[in-house]
Amino acid sequence: MKKITIVGTGHVGLVTGVTLAEIGNQVVCYDINEKYIAQMKQGISPFYEPDLNDLLQKNLTKGQLFFTNDPKLALEAAEIIYIAVGTPTAENGSVDLNYIEAAAKTIAENITKQEIIVVTKSTVPIGTNNLIKQLIETNLTYEVNVNIVSNPEFLREGSAIYDTFSADRIVIGSDCKKAASIIEEIHRPFGRTIYLTDLLSAEMIKYSSNAFLATKISFINEIANLCEKVGANIEEVAQGMGLDVRIGTQFLNAGIGFGGSCFPKDTRGLIQKATEVGQSLEVLEAVIKVNKQQKYLLMNKAKQRLGNFKNKKIALLGLAFKPNTNDVRESIAIEIASELTMQGAMVIAYDPLALEEAKQTLGKKIHYASSLEEAITDTDMVFIATDWDEFKDFPLEKYEMLMNQPIIFDGRNCYSLDRISEYNIEYYSVGRPFK
Ligand SMILES: NC(=O)c1ccc[n+]([C@@H]2O[C@H](COP(=O)([O-])OP(=O)(O)OC[C@H]3O[C@@H](n4cnc5c(N)ncnc54)[C@H](O)[C@@H]3O)[C@@H](O)[C@H]2O)c1
Repeated sequence: MKKITIVGTGHVGLVTGVTLAEIGNQVVCYDINEKYIAQMKQGISPFYEPDLNDLLQKNLTKGQLFFTNDPKLALEAAEIIYIAVGTPTAENGSVDLNYIEAAAKTIAENITKQEIIVVTKSTVPIGTNNLIKQLIETNLTYEVNVNIVSNPEFLREGSAIYDTFSADRIVIGSDCKKAASIIEEIHRPFGRTIYLTDLLSAEMIKYSSNAFLATKISFINEIANLCEKVGANIEEVAQGMGLDVRIGTQFLNAGIGFGGSCFPKDTRGLIQKATEVGQSLEVLEAVIKVNKQQKYLLMNKAKQRLGNFKNKKIALLGLAFKPNTNDVRESIAIEIASELTMQGAMVIAYDPLALEEAKQTLGKKIHYASSLEEAITDTDMVFIATDWDEFKDFPLEKYEMLMNQPIIFDGRNCYSLDRISEYNIEYYSVGRPFK
């Protein structure tokens, strides 16, 4: 059992804290957001994540987890500190390291031990861990041995708890063998493959992994666009490709592209880093370009079909960037909602979880429905932006019954063409023949 402090208890930090507590550690979670901390103290996660509240409550009750927004309380006895603050994109396109810098300063100002291990969970540009060490050391008022470990996070929102306990690998990068082996010991009870490497390579593994997954998505989306032109079906193609274990079936779902809090910012961040050192990343540049185009392709087809969007009543299904989360950061659905309203449409949106979060971004630009039925009633078109199970399981006859005209533009290929063909629905999807 180790005593661990987490600095930054958002999506990644809270899941890290709760799961490290679950495997037997004593964890203090520190965040500057007082509202979040107050909620977490009550055993309530400020964001939705399956199974998170149960584990949070269980470990709070057991006394394994403690929440605070007092940095002194969180850090004075700390020897092992995980940093999980945000690393958003700055205005100039680079990675904004302000939160990282503030976290490093807080650590330096509040620790009292002579030796600490700082573990970076945040996704940080290659070289940042050395900067974190430097920042801590320059803000210290006494001598401390600061050891840095990079432990990049690979969880997916919507299955973060599952992903932590079933991770394909845990990457631990450090230039200090002793620190790496202490962090390896902490992670061993997860029972997953641990990959030990150096600091810079660990940072690179995280960015390259996200860049590669984004590449798969843009690649299959381009192939889907070609399928439409030649009359092939992208689902058949992706399945046939994926049976080759060298390719694999995952991340080959065609659609309106990737959004969210990671892929867009991490692909931009890697390009920015490459530019800084005079290296071009042409494949990744193309991935981003394809993704930008992809998000509007289906919407433009819808515009052609309806003539224009002016005064059209359009139901937008899905606001979260993916199912099983209420996260709308860089969600393509949000961009589509804005674009549709800019072009004169009246948008009625429904999402099983992300309505409140979307309201904070879209405000009164669109209308919000409290059920799928309410959203689609008397509409001229449905646009599906997120592949929630609730949409997939929805009885298709209700589109026929409730809409002015049953026209669906499905940006996530939620329905099989066989199923759709049993109904009088005009159905457009991505990379599949029109039904
Ligand atoms: N969300 C994901 O799916 C995911 C997956 C893998 C990696 N990551 C990476 O993990 C990092 C965190 O992402 P997130 O989605 O959890 O972000 P988040 O915005 O949900 O959480 C960040 C938290 O840090 C807190 N914070 C900011 N500055 C602080 C400070 N100085 N001291 C203490 N707390 C502070 C914020 O209040 C917030 O609660 C990012 O680098 C991200 O790229 C995210």
